[in-house]
Amino acid sequence: MTDVAKRKDVAPAPLEWEYAPAPEARDIVRFEERYGLFVAGEHVDPKSGQWFATISPASEELLAEVALAGPEDVDLAVGAAREAYENGWSGLRPSERAKYLFRIARILQERSRELAVAESLDGGKPIKESRDVDLPLAAAHFFYYAGWADKLEYAFPNRRPRPLGVAGQIIPWNFPLLMLAWKIAPALAAGNTVVLKPAETTPLTALLFTDVCRQAELPPGVVNIVTGDGSTGAHLVKHPGVNKIAFTGSTEVGKAIQRELAGTGTHLTLELGGKAANIVFDDCALDQAIEGIVNGIYFNQGHVCCAGSRLLVQESIYEPLVSKLKRRLTTLRVGDPLDKNTDVGAVNSKAQLERIRELVASGEEEGAEIYQPPCRLPEKGYWFVPTVFTNVAQSYRIAQEEIFGPVLSVLTFRTPEEAVEKANNTAYGLSAGVWTEKGSRILWMTERLRAGVVWANTFNRFDPTSPFGGYKESGFGREGGRHGLEAYLTFD
Ligand code: NAI
Ligand code: MG
Repeated sequence: MTDVAKRKDVAPAPLEWEYAPAPEARDIVRFEERYGLFVAGEHVDPKSGQWFATISPASEELLAEVALAGPEDVDLAVGAAREAYENGWSGLRPSERAKYLFRIARILQERSRELAVAESLDGGKPIKESRDVDLPLAAAHFFYYAGWADKLEYAFPNRRPRPLGVAGQIIPWNFPLLMLAWKIAPALAAGNTVVLKPAETTPLTALLFTDVCRQAELPPGVVNIVTGDGSTGAHLVKHPGVNKIAFTGSTEVGKAIQRELAGTGTHLTLELGGKAANIVFDDCALDQAIEGIVNGIYFNQGHVCCAGSRLLVQESIYEPLVSKLKRRLTTLRVGDPLDKNTDVGAVNSKAQLERIRELVASGEEEGAEIYQPPCRLPEKGYWFVPTVFTNVAQSYRIAQEEIFGPVLSVLTFRTPEEAVEKANNTAYGLSAGVWTEKGSRILWMTERLRAGVVWANTFNRFDPTSPFGGYKESGFGREGGRHGLEAYLTFD
């Protein structure tokens, strides 16, 4: 045996390596003790008199108290948005609107470290993701839509595009600032004003964004932020002064909103859950596919609506793939979101952790085989070990329901036809992935997969120019690209 081969034999397992801590500086962001609502450019105490706490899910430490907006507060915010719409924003020269959006984009870039730390503290996601994905993409969305603001006639020739009015926007906790950007940038570019409600566990970056609006000298009332829980969201949906609701969140709430708005004439777009198939053929570049599978399901602790949560593997490569995947899992670093080496951070909330545990228990009960790498979890906070289920039948809950956690269900197929049939065997239709070296097979698959987005030999790639959205129970309407602009316009 050569020396090299011998050394390979005795190489320490990755678990024995210790990384030095690489913490991002936390003191770059300073939170207020209490945040009021942002209405007509002012921070105001809620008429409801109610407040709630937002914590760091990694340490359970209190970060700040936040106003819980009641019906009267929502009414004031909608009134402020209407006033700003009628008396300025909708009549502003489009190139002026663009100027504000460009300013916001640049300020987001300038303050990206601060905002990334705030995002990781409030929501639990690894700093390398908030720094390298959430913040750059949020700025990119403002840049992109700033560019369209004075070109609407070119984007929709001969259709006389006009803004809708006041948009009510309700966003979830998995990409708080990025979802804010997806919602606010196209709405403002099209000439609307907005009332946005952040999710209850992650309101802080939206509240810091109010300071970005102030810095950009955005006219008061163009952006209003009402923090609160589902009841606040429901008040916004019901408010007769709102012309459009844009919602991202659970299918259950999306259905309730659609019922509420049926027949009212209020415009609606819904971006709901998913149960994406990530389909791996035996001719793929296997190591590359392993990275795509890991990124597909463990990115952002699996709190991703388009996560590749159902892995469909061609039977001929099942064994090598699963063994490589398990080995790769042992190298994932779970822990402090502010450590730059962390791959998997904290689960966003106790409620979400309980939901994940319940579904994982159902997987074991129904007969799937569970694998979790050895892993030391911090004592405080909400954590879940990256998990793979094999021996999964299509009927199991873990193959049907959105887990929204770092949990992968592995199924197999033999032929492309069977892969398509299994991939489409879901109530959702948001995204899918295909891994193969054959271009013709990619095209054949994408024609048949019933999903809004199909990635080929990659996963979880986002770009502001590219429309995103689903069908079936994943919702309707598109965000991103010109499609995203269209959702905030009306035409003759
Ligand atoms: P959720 O749908 O309750 O929350 C999303 C947003 O909607 C939050 O801002 C919330 O305050 C608001 N909301 C809640 N009830 C409302 C109502 N009746 N009217 C108007 N707004 C309302 O989602 P939740 O409970 O946080 O998560 C449950 C599951 O939903 C997750 O496990 C996941 O499967 C899915 N989900 C999907 C998301 C996606 O990106 N598509 C995002 C968040 C959750
Ligand atoms: Mg929080």
